[in-house]
Amino acid sequence: MPDFPPPDLAPILPEDVPAIAALARRIWEDAYSSLLPPGQIDYMLAQRYDHDRLLAEIGNPQKWWVQAFLGDFRAGFACSEIQAGESGPEFKLDKLYVHPEAQRRGIGRALVAHAVETAKEQGFDRLILAVNKQNTRALQAYARYGFTRRASTVTDIGGGYVMDDYIMEKRFGCGNQG
Ligand SMILES: CC(C)(COP(=O)(O)OP(=O)(O)OC[C@H]1O[C@@H](n2cnc3c(N)ncnc32)[C@H](O)[C@@H]1OP(=O)(O)O)[C@@H](O)C(=O)NCCC(=O)NCCS
Repeated sequence: MPDFPPPDLAPILPEDVPAIAALARRIWEDAYSSLLPPGQIDYMLAQRYDHDRLLAEIGNPQKWWVQAFLGDFRAGFACSEIQAGESGPEFKLDKLYVHPEAQRRGIGRALVAHAVETAKEQGFDRLILAVNKQNTRALQAYARYGFTRRASTVTDIGGGYVMDDYIMEKRFGCGNQG
């Protein structure tokens, strides 16, 4: 396997919001066109990547947004947050997206490692996430990163759409990284 240089990670600033929204659309269309029914990508992007909403989110101290660069190329981003769980709060990797032309170079791994470090700093011993059951690319990556499947969920998101996901978790506590 070729060794790629690690990406540079940087916070997401207000002036980055349009580029992050555009990057999300680029990645979603590549990743989800064959997985989601027509209309669901536009519906979900409008919910999640509206510029005002993104601006509010990057200013929220309870959400950890980070972007990854290869040189000047904005190659991906991630967002983590603390979420209420059935048995207490959990640290969730809520977004993990890498540009199709920059995938399989370790950027996803670097963003997950960053989320793990943030989770540890916040006092958590595991990272959880939700992934579409048909998203084999992401499922393979998560398995490589050390996530295991914990549950299966179907969530009504309105508009006649559902999210059909696995909940996965990665435990750390023995110095395991990313
Ligand atoms: C899932 C995703 C974040 C992985 O990021 P990445 O930077 O490409 O992954 P990495 O370079 O860290 O690869 C880690 C491992 O994942 C697996 N993997 C990554 N892309 C893969 C692909 N296209 N096909 C098969 N396995 C793949 C490989 O096992 C890889 O390790 P290897 O290259 O040593 O074999 C990226 O593919 C992506 O953004 N996909 C589209 C959006 C998405 O589905 N996000 C997740 C939402 S829950």
